[in-house]
Amino acid sequence: MKLLTPFFRVLIFAIITFALFEYIVDSGDQLAIQENSLIAPIFWGLLVLAIFIEIIIGTVKSRVYNSLSEEGREKYEQLEADSYFGKLYAKLLDSRAIEEEGEIILDHDYDGIKELDNNLPPWWVYLFYASIIFGVVYLARYHVFDGDFIAVEYEKEVAQAKIDIEEYKKNNPNLVDASTVVLLTEESDLKAGRVIFDEKCAVCHKTDGGGGIGPNLTDPNWILGGGIKNVFTTISEGGRDGKGMISWKAELNANEIAQVSSYVLGFEGTTSAAPKAAEGDVWVDPDAAPIEEEDTSEKEVEVEVPTT
Ligand code: HEC
Repeated sequence: MKLLTPFFRVLIFAIITFALFEYIVDSGDQLAIQENSLIAPIFWGLLVLAIFIEIIIGTVKSRVYNSLSEEGREKYEQLEADSYFGKLYAKLLDSRAIEEEGEIILDHDYDGIKELDNNLPPWWVYLFYASIIFGVVYLARYHVFDGDFIAVEYEKEVAQAKIDIEEYKKNNPNLVDASTVVLLTEESDLKAGRVIFDEKCAVCHKTDGGGGIGPNLTDPNWILGGGIKNVFTTISEGGRDGKGMISWKAELNANEIAQVSSYVLGFEGTTSAAPKAAEGDVWVDPDAAPIEEEDTSEKEVEVEVPTT
């Protein structure tokens, strides 16, 4: 009892503070103490403080107890037992003092081994009832009313997260720039790119990319550099002065430029009705993994002979 009471006090304190943080701090699906880098040190700090206080109280109490007379000790123990925690503890344990064991001893005797008829400790019984209630609620929720099991819950959350990401991208259309843009392959992006191209670019580049005022986009040759990053830059910043390709960044947001760039890159390798002659150089992506050529020539190794 001497050690257990402070232990339970600290445990209850920990549970309550933990629950309070959960309640106060909005941390989404995560635990508040995981989500917020401030909460964890505060929580552990408070816990250490509580343990520290318990130790001080315990030390002071035992000092006081030791300094008391026989009569004083009895009174002290009575006070302890009458305190809130003392009563709670006694109630949850419902055990008999050794002096009272005579009242609950069963009247059989096996070679001197006797049996006590103790009540089940109420803390255990309450736990048992709680598990029954939990079981009933669980059964009803998952097996009667078809609640989502963890795997389904996970899939739903992932699907929702994907929707949220799309939403976020829509509301923040300028997340990409020439250095971060990547080739888009989603059907929806390419479709959006096509709409933009047909509306704004086809006049000069033709609907099939064959070229007119502007260069042919179906050949591997690029005047201003191929690859998603260069094409993105060309479209957003425009071509060389006086050639007719304007900067589109005032008219299209970064996301739209990425879409139309990705659509434009899809032209390469297709055949157009009236292709314009290729201009510029064949583009080789410097970032692409180099094709290693097997070196079959014998290597001549020159060996330097040290002169003595
Ligand atoms: C007024 C005609 C015109 C329009 C409209 C136009 N372009 Fe161009 N585009 C050109 C010309 C001319 C060039 C060549 C620029 C140069 O040589 O510097 C060019 C170059 C390009 C290039 C670089 C080609 C290369 O070989 O490096 C890309 C990519 C391109 N345009 C895409 C687009 C897109 C996408 C649109 C619509 C948003 C568009 N263009 C609208 C005339 C146009």
